Amino acid sequence: QKMLAWQRTSFHFQPKKNWMNDPNGPLYYKGWYHLFYQYNPEAAVWGNIVWGHAVSKDLIHWQHLPVAMVADQWYDINGVWTGSATFLPNGDLIMLYTGSTNELVQVQNLAYPADPSDPLLKKWIKYEGNPVLIPPPGIGLKDFRDPTTAWTTPEGKWRITIGSKINKTGISLVYDTIDFKKFELLKGALHGVPGTGMWECVDFYPVSKIVENGLDTSENGPAVKHVLKSSLDDDRNDYYALGTYDAGAGKWVPDNPIIDVGIGLRYDYGNFYASKTFYDQEKKRRVLWAWIKETDSEAADICRGWASLQSIPRTIKYDKKTGSNIITWPVAEVENLRSNNNEFNKVVVKPGSIVPLEVGSATQLDIMAEFEIDQNVLKKVDGSNATYDCIKSGGSGERGALGPFGLLVLTDNSLSEQTPIYFYIAKDLTGNFNTFFCNDLTRSSEATDVRKLIYGSTVPVLQGEKLSLRTLVDHSIVESFAQNGRTAITSRVYPTKAIYENAKIYLFNNATDISVTATIKIWQMNSANIKSN
Ligand code: FRU
Repeated sequence: QKMLAWQRTSFHFQPKKNWMNDPNGPLYYKGWYHLFYQYNPEAAVWGNIVWGHAVSKDLIHWQHLPVAMVADQWYDINGVWTGSATFLPNGDLIMLYTGSTNELVQVQNLAYPADPSDPLLKKWIKYEGNPVLIPPPGIGLKDFRDPTTAWTTPEGKWRITIGSKINKTGISLVYDTIDFKKFELLKGALHGVPGTGMWECVDFYPVSKIVENGLDTSENGPAVKHVLKSSLDDDRNDYYALGTYDAGAGKWVPDNPIIDVGIGLRYDYGNFYASKTFYDQEKKRRVLWAWIKETDSEAADICRGWASLQSIPRTIKYDKKTGSNIITWPVAEVENLRSNNNEFNKVVVKPGSIVPLEVGSATQLDIMAEFEIDQNVLKKVDGSNATYDCIKSGGSGERGALGPFGLLVLTDNSLSEQTPIYFYIAKDLTGNFNTFFCNDLTRSSEATDVRKLIYGSTVPVLQGEKLSLRTLVDHSIVESFAQNGRTAITSRVYPTKAIYENAKIYLFNNATDISVTATIKIWQMNSANIKSN
């Protein structure tokens, strides 16, 4: 099997070998983007967790650096777990992270750069007074982890939030501090949602209702909404909600309780977990990273010698057009890897047909596609499938009047391995349309040790908008975005035949009653430049 070498990606971040999970403390410092990450230096399975470290000038090309923090103190000897960075007004940088102690208790620790003049921030000092926080009364000793970046309070203090749970209610505790050494627990929580279980990797940040750029974590005011995100330990997905932050009380309330954190919207409807954002002060944007896990067997991970990827970093913004969701989109720098543009203009795909798109090897691609449908035909077709659900559906092979149609990526010549990414339009009896965006992995691999789910959700489509999708294909990962990033789906894919020059791309239309007209741009993607330490 040559160590499953074709599964290695070419422009997604991954260590040379071994296990990785959450992104930690992402930041921009003296000309360099830094990514720290949960890393097992000894094996391709979780354990022995330390902070891996790499730097980049552009979030695409990386230089690996030595491990930044190891498990060498009683308060983190069982793992240097997830944490976040905060810049102080004088430019100093501090890191708060969770340690798993000699007794497996989760505590919060403070660390700072040993040499702030080193732009690579290679050496970190752990504060001699660690831990700075231990689980408060009433909180489980193993339910207290992943401190956020701090923001300022109206009183001029710093404030952080830390995920936890009480019984089955996921909560986020709030602490104020002046020096990151002594903390004061606020009464109640920033927010809590019954039934959602342990909240991991909570993230909390402002987004602007007006301007395009991202906001630094302490910004607030009438033109600002606050996003609260939690990674649900029980469900293994990242859920967020938009809401209003009351700085005085240290509380946040969702705009719409029906789609509260953990029961409503997700950043991504595929494989996307333990995400973290940071404010990029250089480009004035908020950037999102996430851990993309393996969905094959542990035996395959060990055989390959590595496990997990980071998502393509994405900018994150409030969706002014809908007002009810955020949009995530690959950072612009990704486009610098594009070469060899292939364009396919107004390709008509009839009901029940497939059209090959000749682009050569289709393992490293950036694809932008638009689909047009004759509105008169749409209006005339009877609707009866308003209850469509990607996950519970029969997938891309199940034909409806108005879908599915879209792309087949990582597909071999015989179509026996294929990864469809598609829209499905449902119409209810009153004539209202509801559009779904899905990714069907059921035929994505002939390997038997792979989980092959169907992912997806609805995507808002506003009056006059064409259906559009963007997909990044990178050997064993496919990241797809509908309607400019309103809905995203990331999947790990393990083809056995659709690899190297045998990987192809097709258009398909399995709708029975509509033709779609597709206009597509496909770029071959160069590989990112990765330097070992
Ligand atoms: C999320 C998580 C965090 C924890 C870390 C340990 O994937 O479980 O809650 O800090 O990973 O590696």
